[in-house]
This record gives sequence, structure tokens and C-alpha cells, in this order.
Amino acid sequence: MESTETLVCGLVAEARAGIWKKGPIRKHEGSKRKMITKAPKGTQDLVPGKSENWQAMERVFQTEAELHGFGEVRTPVFEHTELFLRGVGDTTDVVEKQMYTFADKGGRSITLRPEGTAGAVRAMLENGLFNAGYPVKLYYSIPCYRYEKPQAGRLREFRTFGVEEFGAGEPVADAQLIAMALSAFARLGLDDVGVQLNSIGCPTCRKAYHQALKDYFTAHVDDLCDTCRSRLDRNPMRILDCKSPVCQQIAQGAPKITDYLCEDCRAHFEQVQHFLTVLGIEYTLDPGLVRGLDYYTRTVFEFPSKRLGFALGGGGRYDGLVEEIGGQPTPALGFGLGLDRIMLALEEKGTAFPKAERCQVYIASMGDAALEKALLLVEELHRCGVAADMDLCGRGLKAQMKYADRVGAKYTLVIGDNELTAGRADLKDMQTGEKKSVSLGEHFIDDYLGAQGVLEDMSF
Ligand code: HAM
Repeated sequence: MESTETLVCGLVAEARAGIWKKGPIRKHEGSKRKMITKAPKGTQDLVPGKSENWQAMERVFQTEAELHGFGEVRTPVFEHTELFLRGVGDTTDVVEKQMYTFADKGGRSITLRPEGTAGAVRAMLENGLFNAGYPVKLYYSIPCYRYEKPQAGRLREFRTFGVEEFGAGEPVADAQLIAMALSAFARLGLDDVGVQLNSIGCPTCRKAYHQALKDYFTAHVDDLCDTCRSRLDRNPMRILDCKSPVCQQIAQGAPKITDYLCEDCRAHFEQVQHFLTVLGIEYTLDPGLVRGLDYYTRTVFEFPSKRLGFALGGGGRYDGLVEEIGGQPTPALGFGLGLDRIMLALEEKGTAFPKAERCQVYIASMGDAALEKALLLVEELHRCGVAADMDLCGRGLKAQMKYADRVGAKYTLVIGDNELTAGRADLKDMQTGEKKSVSLGEHFIDDYLGAQGVLEDMSF
């Protein structure tokens, strides 16, 4: 057998051989070399111009979560594979087909997280967060990895905003969590997001339901896809979630879980609906909604976008997962929102994002002494929390002013020999053309602020 090292060296060599054959994306002007390679399929770069919009969107979700008392949790991008096998379930599409799993150099099986819940549960337990009392409320904004066929709203690296709430078993918690997501959607101006709701019961009521499903699907076994046939005995509920059109067609006639709910689960579900009504939230009952991950119990929900035709997020209760991962039995619930999809929805709607202010004042300079002065003044501005910029490319004055215009500088200050000798320069308002003389000495900041009158306190 090949050693890991030989294997890795071989892979690197193969990659090298392949890489140089790939064509350029777009040649960097004047460069003799080709681009090495494109970003892997199903991933996207978020570059300035886009990333500010993402920050603004994520801030809305973070603020909403913090208003509800959630604190941020940051967990590793990779975890031991076993966490997902046990957490997400080994008969799910995510585990069976979509995980990025590899052996690390120490021979451990490692997986890039395909979702955020299992890692959050592990972190909650490992860090003993339950010691501070329930409920424990966590949120995260993280990249996740699933090997899927890339298409609109389906990526291999996608970003999720998720919340997890531990120790809250009451149905009022389910309703409040749904309201929280809807409130964030409303803040973003997404008015086409619905709520699909179901209860998939607990292990007690699912026993009879599984049997009913087995009986039903056994009568159609010849028409099921290979994966579903293998799930028939192990986890027949997963067949309800199969993407194959034939299996979906068959699943339409399958028994519905809501007819098999035990008394406790039925009462819980009724109460969830009651609290949603109290909150004035409209929802659609969807008895076929089972979600694609095995840990759910009782309430499950999704947030479909009417405009895009797919779910922007989903979640539910998972009262058995904490115990499954090694903790005490703990009721829990949460949701995950697909940020890439939400950004698509915002773009589709033509959302005007707040403009990022990159440069409030641009200090142009002519000559070495002026450049040094500019460097010191820009530093001082930064120290006082003012976005300021200067020439870093050895440009002439005309080109510097063009750059200032491009970055949207509100003010410019030109420093040359005359200004250095006088110890003063004109701060020009680029919109009105109005000029005010400011000191280049120790009163610079006072003069600057006096001239345009804003100072944000950036200190902690
Ligand atoms: P999920 O439904 O598998 O749930 O994923 C959450 C959301 O992530 C989806 O509704 C969708 O918007 C987005 N998403 C999923 N896969 C992709 C993809 N390949 N490309 C782009 N977006 C995608 C979970 O992951 C659960 N952990 C949610 C949860 C938290 N349940 C309880 N707590």
C-alpha cells in the first residue's frame, strides 16, 4: 500500500501536471503567465463590492439573534467524521453522498462540516455551556461543505446563518424561533418568505409510522431508486425526501406522520400553531415535510421564497441529538438559513445596499517630503477613526486625484512644497468644491474635524 506521503506527493504532481493545462480565466494585463486555475466548482469569491453587501446582510441576522439573547459560537471548519455520522445520520443524502471526508496525516477520518448543528452541540457539551443554566442560545455564521451538483442556490461551499437553542422544550420556543427568522427577513425587505410547518413526532410515535411506511413502500419496491431500496429497512422516512422524480411521485401517496403522532407530540404541535397564531404568523401545514437530516423530532419548518422557488432556510426541534452526541437528554431546536440563497433573493429584488465608506479624505502629495507628511497625517486620521487614503503607487497629482474620485473621497487635501512651507493646506469638499484651510501641524485633526465636523469614536 502507498504511504500517505507518497500518495500526497503523487496527487500534488498530478495536480501540477493538470493545472498548467487549464486555460486562463482572464489574463492579467501585461502578464506572460497564465492563471494557475479557477476556483473549485460550486464555490464563489466574495470580493469588495460584494462583500460589504454580505456584511450588511449578516449584521441583520446577528443583530436579530443578539436581540433574542443569542451569543456567537465559532467551531472548527472540520470535525471528526463520526460526529456527523451520529449527528446527521448515516442514511441521509448529506452523509451518504455529500460529505468532504478525508484521512488526515495522523490517519483520523475528518470531515468538512456539511452543516452547523452537530458542531454547535459538540461545542456546547465540550465547553460545558449548560453549566450556566438553560436555555443556552448560540448563533453562527459559517461556511459549510456539501458535494452537490452546483446550480442556482446550490453550491459546494455555501454559507449558513444558524441558531441553536438548548434546554427549551416548550412549544412557545418553536414559535418564537420561527418569528425571529421572519423578523430578520422582514428587516431585509424580503416579503415573499413563507413558513411551511410539520411535526415529525418522536421515536415513540415514529415506530408505528415507520412500519406503515415500510408496508407502503414495499408494495412499490421495484420502482424505487437503489438508494431508497437500501433505506427501506434502515430508515423509510428518508424515502420521503428523495430527489428522484419517481420516488417523489410514489412518496405522494405515502402515509402521513401527522396521522401517527402520539398524544404528547400532537399537543406540542397544536401549541406551536397556537403561539404562531398569537404572533400573527401565517404558515402552511405540509405533512410531507420531513427535512433531510435525521436528528429532527417534533416541529420541522422551512422558509420558502416565492420569488426564487426554493427554501431560504429551515430547521426544527432535535430533542434527541444532545444525548446522541454524549450529553444528558436535552430538548433543543434551531434553524439554518442559506446566506447565498438569501443574497440571491436580495439581488433578485434589486435591494439597494448601504454604501461602504472607504475613503473620507484623500491626501495627495507632490514630492518626497510631501509624501512623508501625507503618511503621518493619514496615520493620524486613522487613529482618530477617519477613513483616509493616500498614494501608494508613485502616481502624479492628476492620477492621484482621479483615484480619489474613484474611491469616492469626500474631501481631498493636496500637499506640495508651498503647503509644506506654509504649514497649511486646503481641504476641499469634493461635492461642493468648497475649500477650508487646515494646519498641517499639531492642530491638523482639530482643524480637519472643525472643517467637516464628524468623528466616530472607534475606541473600545
Ligand atoms: P439544511 O436545510 O440542510 O439545514 O440547510 C439550511 C439551509 O442552508 C437550507 O435551507 C438552504 O437555504 C441552505 N443550503 C443547504 N445546502 C445548500 C447548498 N448546497 N448550497 C446553498 N445553500 C444551501 C441544516 O443544515 C440544519 N443544520 C439547520 C438547523 C439548525 N436545524 C436545526 N438547527
